[in-house]
Amino acid sequence: MISRKIKSQLAGGSQIRKMFEEGNRLKAIYGPDKVFDFSIGNPDLEPPHEVSDALADICSNPVPGMHGYMSNSGYESTRAMIAEKRSKESGLSINPGAVCMTVGAAAAMNDVLHALLDDGDEVIVLSPFFMEYNGYIANHNGKVVVVPTDENFMPVISRIREAVTDRTKAIIINSPNNPSGVVYPASLLKELNDMLKSFNHTIQVISDEPYIDLIYDGISVPCAMSYIDNIVVCFSWSKSLSLPGERIGYTLVSPKNADYDDLTAAIVISNRSLGSVNAPAIWQRVIEKSLYAKVDVANYEHRRNLLYSNITDAGFCAVKPNGALYIFMNTPAGLDDEEFADKCAAHNLLLVKGSAFACPGYCRLAFCVSEQTIRGSREAFFIIADELGISHRKAL
Ligand SMILES: Cc1ncc(COP(=O)(O)O)c(C=O)c1O
Repeated sequence: MISRKIKSQLAGGSQIRKMFEEGNRLKAIYGPDKVFDFSIGNPDLEPPHEVSDALADICSNPVPGMHGYMSNSGYESTRAMIAEKRSKESGLSINPGAVCMTVGAAAAMNDVLHALLDDGDEVIVLSPFFMEYNGYIANHNGKVVVVPTDENFMPVISRIREAVTDRTKAIIINSPNNPSGVVYPASLLKELNDMLKSFNHTIQVISDEPYIDLIYDGISVPCAMSYIDNIVVCFSWSKSLSLPGERIGYTLVSPKNADYDDLTAAIVISNRSLGSVNAPAIWQRVIEKSLYAKVDVANYEHRRNLLYSNITDAGFCAVKPNGALYIFMNTPAGLDDEEFADKCAAHNLLLVKGSAFACPGYCRLAFCVSEQTIRGSREAFFIIADELGISHRKAL
């Protein structure tokens, strides 16, 4: 009865969700303090006070019509503020018409893919990648083309060039990246732009940016729009304001985009026809009042440092992430990600296999868990290293 497409998605299930359920099962048996669950990337910091202040203000000063239908792209005033902020960050002159408010980044990406894809059109994704992209692309009858990154999880321009065909409509980039946490340098974005523009049809870059505010070590994330012309940004406040349950984000088409007029109109109509209609009214108002606020990023950085030390002090290897909420560690030589994840689970240490991100040979750990969990897990990393004959780099 149900469609073949959904049937295959159901069969695939979600690895991350399965680990989440396994975590709950183990916690019920051993107690929550004996289970170290790094499987799910649910931002655990509370939103900054600007959010609750704005919400309280809006609720105590109701305005007639504030719950009514609106333009499918969202409130003009909200979009104008976002356009102003992103103009300052990118050095471009962005007007409110470039912005469409969406129900988070997931809806933003679905709007853009719906606007772009004809059946069988190809979308390049760079592994490791957020596996939900498979579903988003399938929703609009596109074909996923996976191109692996290098050993430091950086895109390889020559590999991308080789993957382009006449049917390539778009490439998705995600920096800071889930699951690797790497940030793409400006030089790489520029090279990507030059390479894509050497083809005689337009290839859109979809820049999935929910982690741009979660950035560590004092670095800054190069603004992809400043370096890439044919680009659409997908953003959400799920991470930067810790609002994943509220579902608020936007799409933004660069003023330099060759398809600017068609694409801005197509995204708005997609937002409507896919069923979001418009982004939540109250949350657009909240965003206006807390646009420059952020969660306590230093708190995430502290926990990243603790978890990274556990992994590397015990003797394992990982690229240190500069952003996002995850460490993508190498599985030790001789073990595949499935075997390593099982070994860790035997010590109540739960992580997600790299194959869930199209990148076997690694496992992902989310560090948006309590400091107590991270500290409590240190011994388990050391015991697992002992069992595998791996020498520690530091003492327990
Ligand atoms: C890389 C990436 N893109 C998009 C999303 C979806 O974000 P949202 O909650 O805004 O839909 C996530 C969520 O975890 C993500 O990690």
